[in-house]
Amino acid sequence: MIVLGIETSCDETAVALAHEDRTILANAVYSQVARHNPFGGVVPEIAARAHVEVLPELITRAMASAGCRWDQVDAVAATRGPGLATSLTIGLQGAKALSLRLGVPFLGVNHLEAHLYSILLGRRNPDEKAVLPALVLLVSGGHTALVRFEGPGRHELWGRTVDDAAGEAFDKAAKMMGLGYPGGPELEKLARGGNPLAIPFPRGDVRNERRDIRVLHPELCFSFSGLKTSLLYYLKGHADHIRVSEYTDIAASYQEAVVDTLARQVERALDLSEFKSLGCAGGVARNTALRERLSDIADSRALPLLVAEPEFCTDNAGMIAALGAALLANGAPPTPINADIDPNWSL
Ligand code: KG4
Ligand code: ZN
Repeated sequence: MIVLGIETSCDETAVALAHEDRTILANAVYSQVARHNPFGGVVPEIAARAHVEVLPELITRAMASAGCRWDQVDAVAATRGPGLATSLTIGLQGAKALSLRLGVPFLGVNHLEAHLYSILLGRRNPDEKAVLPALVLLVSGGHTALVRFEGPGRHELWGRTVDDAAGEAFDKAAKMMGLGYPGGPELEKLARGGNPLAIPFPRGDVRNERRDIRVLHPELCFSFSGLKTSLLYYLKGHADHIRVSEYTDIAASYQEAVVDTLARQVERALDLSEFKSLGCAGGVARNTALRERLSDIADSRALPLLVAEPEFCTDNAGMIAALGAALLANGAPPTPINADIDPNWSL
């Protein structure tokens, strides 16, 4: 089965073609970063307009690069949520129109579930039986979660952030320090060679008596807002006497605090149950300090580490097409053609 997948949940326009066995035939991405950079963050209006502008061309490009004919496409999948409403609408309506025109099923896919599935994509091509269930740390610009992932359509949300996402924590810190957008890669670059122990930034903890968090294990939740505020006060308090060289230590210490906060909850979750592997997905999975820490944890527990490959870490349609194909092949019903976007769709 060949599925054409469309991803437009935020500021990447992406189209891919995949088989249900996770083979990716084409994975085309147009990053809108340059369009949003002058504003220091994603502008929803600009994102939606850019999706309209580039989506048709990207579909043509993906089909050509896969060497695929229209009569070979068996279904069309698109991100239905979560994400920016105006951006989601473009991809979802485009996918519906295409499925009607081709006379093939349409499937709305959960963006977060697709990120989970991304740990299985790419050259590594692991045997699902050997690595699932996996504990997956999902760390993106808008979401941070710990999930028990058992396979397409089968997962349990164990913990999540109660305020900012890990990527957001990087993006906001980078903005405070006058770095570019997106902030994660910029902050990581600045942190290189810095002393991660120079400044003792707080590691946010979430009290497990909180009952308002609808997750399986409240003690596995994350909080990054205190860390962000602490950086703000540090920068304000030292404004007149920070030397340029000290920014490297500040960045390294801040990155260490984010990584520590994530790693501590991963260890707690691994103590709670048996897993066959440790996974990490989402844009922040590109961070080297985080990958190294997770690698130490996985080694100490003799677990395989499945960090999504860079092209499948940040938003892409490969994960949408591959998960869509797997779900349909496993008998999932197609999504009704009048289904709307779901901007707050959780896992
Ligand atoms: O998964 P993604 O492309 O988008 C969402 O679904 O949100 O993740 C984007 C996020 C941004 O916050 C970006 O700053 C962060 O991933 N990011 C990084 C790195 N590369 C991307 N954060 C830390 N270190 C990196 N190297
Ligand atoms: Zn994402």
